[in-house]
Amino acid sequence: CGIVGYVGKDNAKDVIVDGLKRLEYRGYDSAGIALLLENKIFVYKKRGKIRNLEIDLRKKQVFSSTGIGHTRWATHGEPNDENAHPHLSCDGKIAIVHNGIIENYSDLRKELLKKGHKFLSDTDTEVIVHLIEEEFKTAESFLGAFFKGLKKLRGSFAVAVITLHEPETIFVARKDSPLVIGLGDGENFVASDVPAFLPYTNRVVFLDDFEAAVIKSDSVSIFDFAGVKKEKKEVTIPWSISQAEKAGYKHFMLKEINEQPRAISDTVSGNYKLITDGKLDGIDLNKIRRIQIVACGTSYHAGLVGKFYIENFSNIPTEVDYASEYRYRNPVLTEDTLVVSITQSGETADTLAAMRLAKEKGAKVLTVCNVIGSTATREADSVIYTYAGPEISVASTKAFTTQLTVLFMLSLLLGRERGVLDSSEFDRRLKLLMEVPGKIESFLNVEREEEVVKKIALEFYRSKDALYLGRHVNYPIALEGALKLKEISYIHAEGYPAGEMKHGPIALIDENVPSVFVATEGKVLEKIVSNIEEVKARKGKVISVTNPGIKEVYELSDYVINVPEVDEFLSPIVNVVPLQLFAYYIADFLGYDVDQPRNLAKSVTVE
Ligand code: G6P
Repeated sequence: CGIVGYVGKDNAKDVIVDGLKRLEYRGYDSAGIALLLENKIFVYKKRGKIRNLEIDLRKKQVFSSTGIGHTRWATHGEPNDENAHPHLSCDGKIAIVHNGIIENYSDLRKELLKKGHKFLSDTDTEVIVHLIEEEFKTAESFLGAFFKGLKKLRGSFAVAVITLHEPETIFVARKDSPLVIGLGDGENFVASDVPAFLPYTNRVVFLDDFEAAVIKSDSVSIFDFAGVKKEKKEVTIPWSISQAEKAGYKHFMLKEINEQPRAISDTVSGNYKLITDGKLDGIDLNKIRRIQIVACGTSYHAGLVGKFYIENFSNIPTEVDYASEYRYRNPVLTEDTLVVSITQSGETADTLAAMRLAKEKGAKVLTVCNVIGSTATREADSVIYTYAGPEISVASTKAFTTQLTVLFMLSLLLGRERGVLDSSEFDRRLKLLMEVPGKIESFLNVEREEEVVKKIALEFYRSKDALYLGRHVNYPIALEGALKLKEISYIHAEGYPAGEMKHGPIALIDENVPSVFVATEGKVLEKIVSNIEEVKARKGKVISVTNPGIKEVYELSDYVINVPEVDEFLSPIVNVVPLQLFAYYIADFLGYDVDQPRNLAKSVTVE
């Protein structure tokens, strides 16, 4: 879900709707807004996308300098108008928006019902506003009631509250769900993520868990939950607003795919010094005997490639886990284990929980993250940033290839520090990495292979199923290709290591099921060719991502997408690009909302 709040000189309604649109990637089941008027709180909410809300609001003549808004990804209660946020107290004098899950909400609700409160929605959020209303009856101030209410909550929350009791003020608090304050001139902002207010300011203060703030147009005061004031550092975010806009592309996803050459070279140059200096803050590289990678979704696939890199270049045994699994098993962690979390947003609840577990058990945690100041970067012992810039499309593309870039660099660093790679091999590999942006650029803009991908997508967009097959470093790329297709085109797709195909998926193959092979140069090329033969023998349709001049693949495949040849270990970074485009064009041909696929959200800040 996404929260936006504004207090200042402009019409809060416009600033908030604009901010919500920038946060829509966080959820889009329903949206709503609350504005503080002289003697009442105006609330308007609507099922569906923010566009619906925006159209209705245009007709409403309301001006207010203070307000809060929300875009929802439903957890409790179906996405309808009633369950949309904001929620009001019984007397209509307090309004709240909330992200997260209140675990003890049904107990709290029962108590409040006994005290005469009436509930209008099925949400866990509504209990918070009633709780604050109840506490206010006996508290000395609204802030006091706010803290008292917060202390009774279990679970995760980021909340923003406005009230007639304290005009021109927003009360906010967080525990396990992100919240960032934007500092303006005579106006201040609050949001779940920086892009919401990026057109207005890039000076921010990140709230940590168990911190609250009172935001007015000319001041921001930060407190712990005991009400003790705190000083916090202001951070300047080096993103520009143009990075968060479509710049002529039909969708953010297409723009972000095309940004990959730039994103990768920024990631190489941004980390060059760190990697060549050979030091990671807070981590003794010589102590590491084992690595465990934790991540979710696309970032997990980056982790699977990372395992190949780390084991190959540094000989350190590496495991990769879904963060949601890792956190509930009993991972064997010792002081010499390094846990590497990979997260674009730095806010994924499962990934954060896995990191916390690792720290509790005494391991060091390094995070590979794209968002400066996000929770993961603040909690980890050490951070390596990806420099992808803001990623808006729900389906991740440039974050993935920059994660691979960082993992490659990290593995070279580990390899050199441990004497597995000598300096010249380290330099040689780093140079090969620097060639990758140019190769992707040539694939996209010189060879114009995108047109080929588009034509193939046109042939297959009505398919019901697809198989993605790859081996070795490109096995995770097969998984990622399948995930991209599933996410945005809703076509069932399975990614598999091609060598395992004969143990099951081969039964699925017939003339209607396309198999997408990643068949570029490398030590398993011959093996892949045999796997293609197996599919052809069963009349399957084969689409191959390959390099120019690989005759066997050309002869066997029905369709071929050529990617420039690069070093085998770097090939995943290049090979995934046509698979991203393939999914993109299929979804676009089907007429789906590519940037905001159904049921998904970009930042999953709940379990
Ligand atoms: C969601 C997004 C995915 C993303 C995953 C992990 O499922 O839709 O695109 O890969 O979360 O997100 P993270 O921010 O931790 O990389």
